[in-house]
Amino acid sequence: MKNVSVIGAGTMGNGIAHVFAQAGFSVNLVDVNPSQLQRALATITKNLDRQIAKGTLTEEQKRSALANIQYVSQIGDGVKNADLIVEAATENVNLKLEIFKQLDMAAPAGCILATNTSSISITKIAAVTKRPADVIGMHFMNPVPVMKLVEIINGYATKTEVTEAVLTLSRQLGKIPCAVNDYPGFIANRILMPMINEAIFSLYEGVAGVEEIDTVMKLGMAHPMGPLQLADFIGLDVCMSILRVLHDGFGNPKYAPCPLLVNMVMAEKLGIKSGEGFYVYTAGSKELVVSQQFK
Ligand SMILES: NC(=O)c1ccc[n+]([C@@H]2O[C@H](COP(=O)([O-])OP(=O)(O)OC[C@H]3O[C@@H](n4cnc5c(N)ncnc54)[C@H](O)[C@@H]3O)[C@@H](O)[C@H]2O)c1
Repeated sequence: MKNVSVIGAGTMGNGIAHVFAQAGFSVNLVDVNPSQLQRALATITKNLDRQIAKGTLTEEQKRSALANIQYVSQIGDGVKNADLIVEAATENVNLKLEIFKQLDMAAPAGCILATNTSSISITKIAAVTKRPADVIGMHFMNPVPVMKLVEIINGYATKTEVTEAVLTLSRQLGKIPCAVNDYPGFIANRILMPMINEAIFSLYEGVAGVEEIDTVMKLGMAHPMGPLQLADFIGLDVCMSILRVLHDGFGNPKYAPCPLLVNMVMAEKLGIKSGEGFYVYTAGSKELVVSQQFK
């Protein structure tokens, strides 16, 4: 495998393009929004510079990684020579189904079609193509150049050769892949989101405050950050929509999002991206300050 196309140049897409380019693959990074492509180039350059500053990359390796990435605005042009496509566009079912129909028409036979979705069924995505055996989940973690795990998700029809190829590829990127099957939330979010939801319920019911909940989980369970801070980092809207996927998919009330989470999303308190969630965020400051709402 040599040619990789990444669809979507946002938070995840630029990181995925970065790690493939650094590992020597030729990457087409495709986005319908040209300003996202420009932003991706700037982010990848900044992140490669950070690796140089840490002593884990040379200037020459940076130049060659950057030279391995082409920026493309049309899916058809971007995937015509692809051996592997990793779709990392916006998390929206209808958008992803549309993109996979396009990929099915434009990608060469034998190309592996992977999606980085956090919560949409791989089986459902595969079913809109004429090659469901070649469709698989490749769930990278954020930030992609730093996080070691890739959760590999086998759809109902994914063939073993495709799983094996994607496991090998992930190792070539220096990542550690784990193969799981396609049920709502896969493994990562099926376990993480109920924990975050339970932390929010504990706050909602007045069992403890924001700092106490996060401190118990950080110091007691050796988690690098507490569940409420992590929810702010992921985005409270994203947490709520993944909980809804679990709730709908299993039909079990234990996955229903906490009413406090729903209220915060409606109030547009979405965490870091909106400047406030359980904590308030000020540009340039790394200090963790609990939102006035929870003091
Ligand atoms: N952000 C995370 O922490 C995280 C972690 C794991 C997985 N994911 C998953 O990765 C995917 C991308 O998430 P993100 O956070 O990078 O989103 P994002 O909003 O940062 O980026 C999405 C990009 O997709 C582009 N896009 C939209 N429609 C397109 C199309 N038709 N063709 C090409 N590009 C298109 C947008 O212009 C945008 O640049 C989602 O499926 C998400 O669930 C996200």
